[in-house]
Amino acid sequence: MNLGLEGKVALITGGSRGIGRATALAFAAEGARVAIAARERAALDEAAAAIEASTRRRPLACVCDCTRPDEVTAMVRAVVERLGGIDILVNSIGAARGGDFLELTERDWDESLALKLLGQIRCCREVLPAMRARGGGVIVNVIGHRGKQPDGRALPAGVANAGLINFTMGLAQEEARHGIRVVGVNPAPVETRRLRDVFETEARVLGISVEEAGRRWLSQVPLGRAARPEEIADVIVFLASERASFVTGTVVHADGGATRCL
Ligand SMILES: NC(=O)c1ccc[n+]([C@@H]2O[C@H](COP(=O)([O-])OP(=O)(O)OC[C@H]3O[C@@H](n4cnc5c(N)ncnc54)[C@H](OP(=O)(O)O)[C@@H]3O)[C@@H](O)[C@H]2O)c1
Repeated sequence: MNLGLEGKVALITGGSRGIGRATALAFAAEGARVAIAARERAALDEAAAAIEASTRRRPLACVCDCTRPDEVTAMVRAVVERLGGIDILVNSIGAARGGDFLELTERDWDESLALKLLGQIRCCREVLPAMRARGGGVIVNVIGHRGKQPDGRALPAGVANAGLINFTMGLAQEEARHGIRVVGVNPAPVETRRLRDVFETEARVLGISVEEAGRRWLSQVPLGRAARPEEIADVIVFLASERASFVTGTVVHADGGATRCL
């Protein structure tokens, strides 16, 4: 299947690790011109080198803290200047705090929403003028199944994700007339560094081992395991491609069946 991504410019926030990194590799393998953004320079450079080694295409690496508006503006400007525009944005930033509700502090809530909810919204806002100037584009927000399947020990994630689902669907309505599609992807557990943090929090709250917390968590997934980052990346790349040209304003569950509502 020709995905029609050759030569497209794709910016992936959170592209140095996890789902974002797997997505950057998948876009590069399809012939896209890729930019990756994250805070740590060393991790970005390592990811860029690994992607170049496997695709012979080196991504542009942008150091950016997406909680800082000035840095997001500079990141988008750098991508437009260096790569000539932006066709695709994948937002793969976000890590919300979990745990017992009464133990979550004001700061936990502020930081969770500042990164996951407002960080993704901010990146969308910054790329839209460049996409409109090009006559179209695609935004894929990586959200998470807690937006539709609430969990009392993952409330900041659930609140941020529910907000992002609403934002994604609403923005799609507005941007369709500019030829811009906006979609979301809802993973459940994915084998990344974040997942270990989730299991550790769960273990602490329940007073059980991390291994037992992991087993209980994964037992909620009908397919019985966490996804590999590449399995989420494939869905993202398809949604960003020409083959999904009539898909917008929706959120696709890539969650092993974990979401039990429509
Ligand atoms: N893994 C899961 O089980 C799972 C499940 C459902 C949803 N999700 C969602 O999927 C997305 C990706 O998760 P992941 O598991 O792939 O995460 P991950 O492996 O922890 O990677 C996070 C990426 O985001 C970057 N990042 C973190 N804070 C940032 C900031 N302030 N500004 C810019 N970049 C920042 C990190 O690099 P630096 O630290 O260097 O900045 C890294 O590149 C998140 O939105 C997450 O909520 C994940």
